[in-house]
Amino acid sequence: MREKVIVIDFGGQYNQLVARRVRECNVYCEIYSYKTDIAKIKDMNPKGIILTGGPNSCYEQGAPSCTEELFNLGIPVLGLCYGAQLMMLVLGGKVEKAPVREYGKIEVSVNTSSALFEGVSPTTICWMSHNDYISQPAPGFDICARTADCPVAAAESPALGLYAIQFHPEVLHTKEGTKMLYNFVRGICGCSGDWKMDSFVENSIKSIREKVGNGSVLCALSGGVDSSVAAVLLSKAIGKQLTCVFVDHGLLRKNEGDEVEAVFGPDGPYKLNFIRVNAQKRYYSKLAGVTEPEQKRKIIGEEFIRVFEEEAKKIGAVDYLVQGTIYPDVVESGLGGESAVIKSHHNVGGLPDYVDFKEIIEPLRDLFKDEVRKAGLELGIPDNLVYRQPFPGPGLGIRIIGEVTEEKVRIVQDADLIYREEIAKAGLDRSIGQYFAALTNMRSVGVMGDERTYDYAVALRAVNTVDFMTAESAEIPFEVLQKVMSRIINEVKGVNRVMYDLTSKPPGTIEFE
Ligand code: XMP
Repeated sequence: MREKVIVIDFGGQYNQLVARRVRECNVYCEIYSYKTDIAKIKDMNPKGIILTGGPNSCYEQGAPSCTEELFNLGIPVLGLCYGAQLMMLVLGGKVEKAPVREYGKIEVSVNTSSALFEGVSPTTICWMSHNDYISQPAPGFDICARTADCPVAAAESPALGLYAIQFHPEVLHTKEGTKMLYNFVRGICGCSGDWKMDSFVENSIKSIREKVGNGSVLCALSGGVDSSVAAVLLSKAIGKQLTCVFVDHGLLRKNEGDEVEAVFGPDGPYKLNFIRVNAQKRYYSKLAGVTEPEQKRKIIGEEFIRVFEEEAKKIGAVDYLVQGTIYPDVVESGLGGESAVIKSHHNVGGLPDYVDFKEIIEPLRDLFKDEVRKAGLELGIPDNLVYRQPFPGPGLGIRIIGEVTEEKVRIVQDADLIYREEIAKAGLDRSIGQYFAALTNMRSVGVMGDERTYDYAVALRAVNTVDFMTAESAEIPFEVLQKVMSRIINEVKGVNRVMYDLTSKPPGTIEFE
């Protein structure tokens, strides 16, 4: 059984970050709602438990809670912020409204002889965000960190394996936070650190082989990172028993259809059956005259399902259907606990209704995005594919404002290619979160070679983001923007203006639709 730590979610905004940081310590980790049955927790036999932060006051009636039993399982527990306060309250300490609310980077003095703070500087910067505080630790606990305004910034009972931290070690603003989490999972919990991508890949291939046997598997390949990694994993496990259907909807970036075919097609390095469906014309005619972005998304999504189903019918019954679901999709779909459902899946369509299959395989279900990339590299997938930017399922269909036409697709593809080339030449391609060209629906007057023009304006977008839920526009050097502008105007017919979108998210979105 895989060594594992579990994170119990009390509705804090950083629950995924906690799990990611633990995995960075090479320890496998999963998130569960605070409502999870204690018997189920025992059954999982975790090496450690981490309680997350949360927006409530733990002493209020109806606030998310846990039983004392959780602390008596003989499994080390680390409480963070709300989790720390709850641990103290349940075990007989005192939590109340703090006289001074702490928010932001705060200097904390820690006791470096505590196992939790081994190797940490005696005074260190930590991220605080709390209205309540622990005014008195539970009996048997020693205070092991404090700040000017917070007498109990951390408390511990090493004999019981219980630790409570008021601040957030999972947030990067806590300078030595990863070290503290490492001390907990590797030191206190005694995890050996066996969560490594090479063993994930090896184990997955083995278990897929066992599960599938002689069966047949169907995979919808988009060319994005997740579906590509899933397809290669399957191909390594079962070779020609896998069929990948790649739908070219004519809304891909320039040359992308051919690039996907070069990697996964018959001349590529992988053993699998590859079917490319050239559905460009079909999509363009469905989209003719449609200007409303949501409607465009729906049409593109539904058409994908139809095309995929038609191909699946030709293949006949299969045993398994592959989905590229990753862990954040699972978490964001709701843990059944306090965490809000952040967004409904905005991947194209849903599951095809009429594909004849017995079961779904989700080989990446346990992985975070950066782990998917690591698995991709481990599998020998080319760098440019592994580090591909996020690309929306509905593709350029939602980067063209107003009606989508073949001509507009050509314009945005050409402009986008120039933009990407220049960003790469300037060495910025790995440092900007996401960047692309969009085509506005605005035409205006210009002058080129003494002639009047009346052409479109292209908008350039580039953002930096940690989680794609908020974003800031990226500061691209002006010379680079000017170079991109001049190449687009000169090389892309139909464009006479180039603009840079400065809007952050919120109030904008990352896409420009
Ligand atoms: P927004 O525009 O919502 O985008 O700020 C956030 C991130 O999600 C990507 N995105 C999508 N990804 N299917 C996807 O797979 C979609 O329909 C979709 N819409 C937006 C977007 O590129 C950005 O990374």
